[in-house]
Amino acid sequence: MSGFSFGDGNSNTSSSFSFGAQSDTKDSNATTSSTFSFGASTTGNSGTSGFGSVSGGGFGAGGGGSSNGLFGSGTNAPAFGANQTTNNAETKKSSNVNNEEDTTDASSMKLPEIHGKLKVIDVKTGEEDEEVLCTVRSKLYVFYKEDKYGDEVRKNLWKSRGTGDVKILRHKQTGKCRLLMRQDKVKKICANVAIPANANLKREEGQGYRITTSLPDFDGSATELRTFAFKFKDDSASQTFFDNFEKAKAFNGGTPVPEKKTTAPSVKPGAVTNPVTQTKNAPSKAVPTFTTLREIYGNSNQLQRQTLRYKNLCARFRALYNEEPNFIIRAPGRANIIGEHIDYMGFSVMPFALENDTLIAGSTNTSNRVQLNHTDDMKFDPVTFDAEGKNLKVDTTNGVQWYNYFQCGYRGFFDEAAEQGKIVAPKGMNLVVNTTVPLGSGLSSSSSFVVCSFLASARAHDIAFNQQEVGTRCQKCEGYIGTMGGGMDQAISVTGEKGKAKHVEFFPLRTADVSLPSNASFVIANSLAVSAKAVTADKQYNLRVTECKLGAIIIGKQIGVEFVKGENITYRALAEKFLKTKNALSVEQLIQFEGFCKQHLHSKPYTQNEIEGLIGGSATVILDDRRCDNVFNVNSEFYLQQRGVHVYSEARRVLQFKDTCANAGTIQELGRLMNESGASCAEAFDCSCVELNQITELAIRNGAVGSRLTGAGWGGSTVSLVDSKDVDTFMQKMYDGFYKNNERARAISDKKMYLFSSAPAQGAGIVEVGNFLSIDDINVNDLL
Ligand code: GLA
Repeated sequence: MSGFSFGDGNSNTSSSFSFGAQSDTKDSNATTSSTFSFGASTTGNSGTSGFGSVSGGGFGAGGGGSSNGLFGSGTNAPAFGANQTTNNAETKKSSNVNNEEDTTDASSMKLPEIHGKLKVIDVKTGEEDEEVLCTVRSKLYVFYKEDKYGDEVRKNLWKSRGTGDVKILRHKQTGKCRLLMRQDKVKKICANVAIPANANLKREEGQGYRITTSLPDFDGSATELRTFAFKFKDDSASQTFFDNFEKAKAFNGGTPVPEKKTTAPSVKPGAVTNPVTQTKNAPSKAVPTFTTLREIYGNSNQLQRQTLRYKNLCARFRALYNEEPNFIIRAPGRANIIGEHIDYMGFSVMPFALENDTLIAGSTNTSNRVQLNHTDDMKFDPVTFDAEGKNLKVDTTNGVQWYNYFQCGYRGFFDEAAEQGKIVAPKGMNLVVNTTVPLGSGLSSSSSFVVCSFLASARAHDIAFNQQEVGTRCQKCEGYIGTMGGGMDQAISVTGEKGKAKHVEFFPLRTADVSLPSNASFVIANSLAVSAKAVTADKQYNLRVTECKLGAIIIGKQIGVEFVKGENITYRALAEKFLKTKNALSVEQLIQFEGFCKQHLHSKPYTQNEIEGLIGGSATVILDDRRCDNVFNVNSEFYLQQRGVHVYSEARRVLQFKDTCANAGTIQELGRLMNESGASCAEAFDCSCVELNQITELAIRNGAVGSRLTGAGWGGSTVSLVDSKDVDTFMQKMYDGFYKNNERARAISDKKMYLFSSAPAQGAGIVEVGNFLSIDDINVNDLL
């Protein structure tokens, strides 16, 4: 294409795209360029802002480039389809933002004369009354639907405004934010715009950052909107901008905005600090919005089924509420490859998202009541509760109810909003839930529901959070149900990506892609023994968490490491305090601590008395958690050494698995680590059951190179690593060997609910419902 391309000329990691103006110049230097743009209309028609709108002045407008789609996709680089009449003088310069000697002659742009709104302003004006949220260097481009250049009238063109500092400023008194861009060379203001609280940010997956929004002039008429494109030096710079833009939106939406607390946390130096605070600093992506189901489910033969499912959901919504849903949220379940029962001890894990997911269709209502229905209303009765926001109590006194999970996510949304200083008036909501994550299967049906509920509540209240915020908060708020879960399930449900297993680290939450060998396939086999983590928590899951915490305190006593009341007591914190490091622990250090468990803890069970003697006080006081109190109420024996040995050895296996992948190891090597993990779960951690053991043994006999329970255990599913070429035979053998004569399996008509092969799937997102509202081919009455 004849496009002026910025992004890479020779790197395949770059997220590049083109402006469809004429130019010979290619940027061959940027290796990690990230670009994004504001797709606002210059005509004041905010309703048409966005990519791909000719009249709205978004990407793909005009006749240039090879634009043909939503984001004007060209062959290699999606095009900003600007018109071919674009002036060469403005685009033939180097686009490399790293190059401080930008050759763009900005003075020839005659900004003030040609563009009334791009005024020459004293850059100091007002700035002394403003706090700088961020300053990020960028190249700036502005889109013109129509522009006069001398006598010539040109349409749909991008004009470079050169390189300079983009600042997001917040007024000290009013708390309001604006965006200011000052061009380096001529020291002129090229952008001085407001950041509306409802600015709709959009970034395109795989293309760096592209953001669309409608931005009015800061000091001009709010009806005049401008389209900008920024190119930052690298991903981290663009991320900084993104995060602060989101912050600014929040500040502009709710006043007054309380300042962040700066008081030190009440833990001793060296303790692991508040994970939420740290997460704020972690790089993060926006939760994506999907406009087609193909983006989520790919081209698989599932697509047709899924389309029907979404249509059914909409039809059910309409039948119940007599209106269309405004949004659909989806959040998937997960399988964990390796790293079991160590997330709550602070160690990293390696899960992937499944195609199986929970959906919530929703809209707001004016009744101030939250109305929650499930498509499977034979099992799940409808429920209505007051829209109490942060005051809602997740009441499990009569046992855990299905809607309690929704309430966890709902409460979590209000908690997160409040912590970020966003003032949200709770709205009534109409909601319908549907899920394909088999319940009690150990595939995280509960966390997918919690994440989905959080996002549905956030969407209904028009507030966006990034993936790290959602993942971290959902881990916390799921705790309202009474389990002491770590963050793995929520994290992967939010951050999952098609084709990618993730190495997930905690405190702060962050993820990295894992490249598995090309012949690695995973088969999930459900033992059909129900794993009801929340119901059995006091005697299983929470007992294990408590045993680990107690082990850490007792070892700490012996090696001179102290924990204080209220601190998040983990085996990772124990090691970090002892080693006086915040760096990731090495394999050798993990082995050293596995040794400490054997040395400082005995293998026979501990009693509460013995434990309290060793720690020199009340166990419930130091643990300071009602859920641990319940554990002590119903258990009299605590196996501390075995649990500690499992945790450190499992944390080591995750690192070894990751390194094996990075060093192009074989599936056999990976399988061995999975088998060791399975054995450690079954023996040292005692979280397996007869059926899980039968399946993993059968899997190995049938050719899997590795097989282990996945998730919390005590029922639920297994994950087996199989050479891709053997998957079909393997599944058939598993069916014949375990399910064919299994009573529970016979009661389930769809085999895929208990035995399936799964590649890593897409994480959570918002689904624009427009596509699913045409339901002519569905008889609504059939669905009721
Ligand atoms: C459950 C929890 C997770 C994790 C696993 C075990 O799925 O929700 O946080 O602890 O068990 O690895």
